Amino acid sequence: MLVAILCKESTRSRVSANTFLMSKGFPGVVKIPGEIVQHVRETTRQHNKWFKESLPLIASENVLSPAAREVMDSDLHNRYAEGLPGKRYYQGNIFIDEIERVCEELAREVFGCRFADVRPVSGTVANLAVLMAVARPGDNMTAVGLSDGGHISHAKIGALGLRGVRVHNYPFDKKTMNIDPEGTKRLLREVKPKAALFGQSVYLFPTPLKDLQNTFDEVGCTVWYDAAHVLGLIAGNRFQDPLREGVDVISASTHKTLPGPQHGMIVSDLVKEEMETALRRGVFPGVTSNHHLHSVAALAVTLAETREFGEAYADQMIRNAKALAQALHERGFDVLCEPNGFTESHTVVVDVEEHHGGANVAKSLEDANIIVNKNLLPWDDDPIRPSGIRIGSQEVTRLGMKEDDMIEVAELITRVVMKAGPLTEAKESVKEFKSGFTKVHYCFFEGEEAYDYPAFEGGP
Ligand SMILES: Cc1ncc(COP(=O)(O)O)c(C=O)c1O
Repeated sequence: MLVAILCKESTRSRVSANTFLMSKGFPGVVKIPGEIVQHVRETTRQHNKWFKESLPLIASENVLSPAAREVMDSDLHNRYAEGLPGKRYYQGNIFIDEIERVCEELAREVFGCRFADVRPVSGTVANLAVLMAVARPGDNMTAVGLSDGGHISHAKIGALGLRGVRVHNYPFDKKTMNIDPEGTKRLLREVKPKAALFGQSVYLFPTPLKDLQNTFDEVGCTVWYDAAHVLGLIAGNRFQDPLREGVDVISASTHKTLPGPQHGMIVSDLVKEEMETALRRGVFPGVTSNHHLHSVAALAVTLAETREFGEAYADQMIRNAKALAQALHERGFDVLCEPNGFTESHTVVVDVEEHHGGANVAKSLEDANIIVNKNLLPWDDDPIRPSGIRIGSQEVTRLGMKEDDMIEVAELITRVVMKAGPLTEAKESVKEFKSGFTKVHYCFFEGEEAYDYPAFEGGP
């Protein structure tokens, strides 16, 4: 926005950037170019330091392994490779083709399927590519509603709306935080969707896919599963195995419970050639041109590490989430789904309405270096005033935390939210506790620092 104003304004009146910015009251930004570079570098360095000293509990984030981080910073970042290995529109792709082939092969192996496309540059882009393949404007589709934990790209205001499909939401059981299977069967029969989309951003329990299988067959819809949040759990043979439970195609981000680069992917076990062609075309030229080759290399590294360490990692993420939920419950928090064991994933959801809502709690926690997000709950009336917070165990697990450490995390959250003592003291306790958990685990070259700033030689 700032840049847009700047460009428009400076061309029109030929006022220099600095003078213009000063006139708009942005003194902190007004620096000569070299200083701006230093400002950005220093601010990024501060960000790294802050996260090193914080408890990162956003359920959709993670840290890269040392090998994945290394290839992210390679010359691959500077290149173009449209199309598929061996069929490119650019020269210079000899090594890139090899990396992409390895990445695809690993994806097929890890998810036990015949088809993988590792080119989507994010989960949303993967969703758009699948949408191009499975639905046309005007088609009916079914998906989980936003306040029930569905993702924005599954909504009318997101990718589904962009494709022009009509979205129908599944009936949702607020007690079990899952779709209601009988109501869903009725909806599928009534709406006869072209594609039925499952998967959530608040994903506590597996979707009852097996129970729906007969209805899918009866209706004849494509069954599509967005595994963005739970991809690492599925890769580690936990949570559920969608491709063996009636799902035709999975789309996902690759940087949440799968601890890879910010990227996306599609996997499927469909044998039909026309579906494969449609998915490939959906990705390119449908919704990508170049596909971020450094990320493909980092994804290949992550998938290879997942093959080796994925089960142990998935197991510990779930154990930690359960331990954290239990510890928060024992400290008086309204943790959702207690009768069902709180969660079967990496995610824990807490209703904090009695503590003045999700926004207020998330901000207080941030002031003490505990990073979570406010979250809509199915019973919220006001979409801009969520009553919940969402907590994820995947990054702290990656840093080596175990069940006992979750008790300390719950203790620190309690101190802040229940206002037991000054925030500054809680923040110091968080920093001290976190100093024992700054290295990356469940990967090759285990024990490297997760948050160190990659300064270049000769840089100040
Ligand atoms: C279920 C689901 N699908 C898709 C996405 C989008 O992924 P990305 O941020 O990679 O575009 C998210 C992001 O959190 C998600 O939760």
